[in-house]
Amino acid sequence: EIEFFFPQEQTLAVIKPNALVEHREEILEHIQKGGFTISRVKETILSREMAEEFYKEHRDKPFFSQLVEFMCRGPCMLMALTKENAVEEWRAMMGPTDPAEAKEVAPESLRARFATDILQNSVHGSSNPQHASEKIHFLFGDIASEGDVTNDGDMAT
Ligand code: PPS
Repeated sequence: EIEFFFPQEQTLAVIKPNALVEHREEILEHIQKGGFTISRVKETILSREMAEEFYKEHRDKPFFSQLVEFMCRGPCMLMALTKENAVEEWRAMMGPTDPAEAKEVAPESLRARFATDILQNSVHGSSNPQHASEKIHFLFGDIASEGDVTNDGDMAT
């Protein structure tokens, strides 16, 4: 008898404000077809304080205030995605940060298809598993754990 064990990993995915309005269904379809399990989901308008904390690693970048302002402009969809190798696979599905580059190197990627520019680039994904668990904990709170299927029930309209 042979047993296989596929270790599950979690990543944080965010559908950013403009993309949520314009491409919600297409992006969610991609996530499902990609074999990710949406283990937690919450649709919310981030406060300025939340967005600043979320992007604290970029505090000193020239685009920081623009990025924070953009992320608070309307509802985002926050998701914990579970899959083997989730961090890397979700980033591959997103494509490069800048849609101009994405169109060149990954024309099927979400950013190639749905990003407007480097600021309004449609989706976010954690850069490593450590960041992923930190941000999932920050956005969803203490009860976030693997395999925990929760809809927080405070979906903004
Ligand atoms: S870095 O420096 O490599 O860590 O940054 P990067 O991953 O490319 O980008 C981090 C987030 O900053 C946003 N970004 C920008 N916003 C506005 N203007 C410019 N020039 C710009 N460059 C990067 C980018 O969309 C990333 O957001 P997330 O949500 O992490 O994808």
